[in-house]
Amino acid sequence: MRSPARLALNNGVQMEALGFGLYKVPPQDADALVATALGEGYRRFDTAAMYGNEVGVGRGIGGAIGDAAEANTGTGAGGSGESVHTLSREDVFVTTKVWNDDQGYDTTLRAFDTSISNLGLDYVDLYLIHWPCAGRGLFVETYKAMETLYREGKVRAIGVSNFQPAHLEELMQKAEVVPAVNQIELHPWLQQTRLRTLHEQLGIRTEAWSPLGRGHVLADPAILALSEKYDRTPAQIILRWHLQLGNLVIPKASSAGRIKENIAVFDFVLDDADMDGIAGLERHHRTGSHPDNVN
Ligand SMILES: NC(=O)c1ccc[n+]([C@@H]2O[C@H](COP(=O)([O-])OP(=O)(O)OC[C@H]3O[C@@H](n4cnc5c(N)ncnc54)[C@H](OP(=O)(O)O)[C@@H]3O)[C@@H](O)[C@H]2O)c1
Repeated sequence: MRSPARLALNNGVQMEALGFGLYKVPPQDADALVATALGEGYRRFDTAAMYGNEVGVGRGIGGAIGDAAEANTGTGAGGSGESVHTLSREDVFVTTKVWNDDQGYDTTLRAFDTSISNLGLDYVDLYLIHWPCAGRGLFVETYKAMETLYREGKVRAIGVSNFQPAHLEELMQKAEVVPAVNQIELHPWLQQTRLRTLHEQLGIRTEAWSPLGRGHVLADPAILALSEKYDRTPAQIILRWHLQLGNLVIPKASSAGRIKENIAVFDFVLDDADMDGIAGLERHHRTGSHPDNVN
C-alpha cells in the first residue's frame, strides 16, 4: 500500500485524507478496532462524545503512543503488536465533536474537558460542532467556545458538521476563525455539489461522513461495473472517487479485512470518464438525518 495522501487545512495543519470512522462502534470494541486500524496504516480517527466510545478510542491510540495509555488505563495495554509504542502523539490525528445537548459557551468548554479526559489526550486535533441544531440558536456561542479552545492550543483546528449553507453564512458573519472542516453526509447518491462549491469558496475542507452510504451504495450497478473494470472492490472504487474529488473521508468497518481493504486505495486512479460517470449517480438520497430535522 502506498502512503495515504495528506491535505492541508486552512490554518496549515496537515491531515491524512483517509481516516477511520467510529460511529456505532461499541465502546468495548473501540480499543481493538483502533489498534487494528493503526496496524493497517490508519493514523486518523473520527469519534464524538455522542458515540460513547472516546475512552476506548483513547486506549487504542494510547497503546500505540505509550504515555496516554498510562494516563488512561494505567497499564499501557491495548496496542496492536508491533505498532505499540512506535508512534508519537503527533503521528496520530483525532477528531471529536461536541454533542447537541452541550451547545452553548460554558457547556461546550465543559464538554471538551470531558472529551479529552475520556480520550486520555492533552489536545484534540480537530473539534467539531456535531449538528447545527439551528432551532436551539446556540451554534455561534458554541463556536465561540471552540475559538477559545483553539486560541488556548487545546485543539489544533476547529470546524463544524452537518452545516447547511445558511448555517455557514451566519457563522461566517460572526466567527473570527474560519471553520477548517464541514463534515457532511456525502457519497455517490448524495454528492452535495452546492455545499462543496461553497466550501471551496470559503476555504473549508469537505469531509464525507457515511462515505459508502452506510454500505448501501456498494451495490449500485455502476459501482459494481467499475469494480470489475478496475479489479477493485466497490468500497475501494467509492473511496477512490472521494479522494480524487478532494474529500476527506472516514469509512467505518468492523473487520480487519475491511479495514485493510478500505485503506488500499492509493495505488490506482479512476479516469475522468469514470469520475464523470459516478457524478451521474446523484439521487439526493440521505442515509442519515437531514440537518434541519436534528435539534
Ligand atoms: N458528523 C456526523 O453527523 C456523522 C454521522 C454519521 C457518521 N459519521 C462519521 O462517519 C463515519 C463513517 O460513516 P458510517 O459509519 O455511517 O458509514 P460508512 O462508512 O459509509 O459505511 C459503514 C458501513 O459499510 C460497511 N463497510 C465498510 N467497509 C466495507 C467494505 N469494504 N465492504 C463492504 N462493506 C463495508 C460497514 O460494515 P461493517 O461495520 O459490518 O464492517 C458498515 O455497515 C462514522 O463512523 C462516523 O465517524 C459522522
